[in-house]
Amino acid sequence: MKPVLDSGIALHKLIIAIALTFGLNPSFAQAVNEDAATALAKAGNCFRCHSVDKAKKAPSYKRIAAKYKGKAEAEAILMKHLSGSQKVKVEDGGDEEHEPPPAKNPEEVKNLVRWILSWE
Ligand code: HEC
Repeated sequence: MKPVLDSGIALHKLIIAIALTFGLNPSFAQAVNEDAATALAKAGNCFRCHSVDKAKKAPSYKRIAAKYKGKAEAEAILMKHLSGSQKVKVEDGGDEEHEPPPAKNPEEVKNLVRWILSWE
């Protein structure tokens, strides 16, 4: 067992070394899949209230990203916001239900959250 574990760690180090060599942050594996994010946002009707850069019934994704800029817990807060249904106040004053996106798994939601936060 041990040699397998060692080589796993060595491989991990190698991947990070390669990532650093190419000027990337080790978090490069978390790159956003933009097509998947926008497809999920469309499927969830998010654009009915949100636009990327204009205020509609809801704040734009740019405004949301700006609000959370530099906050380490941003991803966790938005994951929670999108994991269930809740009442929100829309711009015209009414209350509407904030439905979660129709994702197959939390990874898809995480990708959508990262896409939103990438608009800062
Ligand atoms: C009925 C209109 C409506 C729809 C549809 C909608 N939202 Fe929202 N959303 C809002 C409103 C209004 C707010 C602002 C709530 C607040 O700040 O209290 C909001 C806030 C947010 C926020 C920021 C929360 C925060 O903590 O600042 C995110 C992220 C978000 N929505 C994502 C989405 C996604 C993704 C979808 C699609 C699955 C979606 N919304 C669909 C109205 C909507």
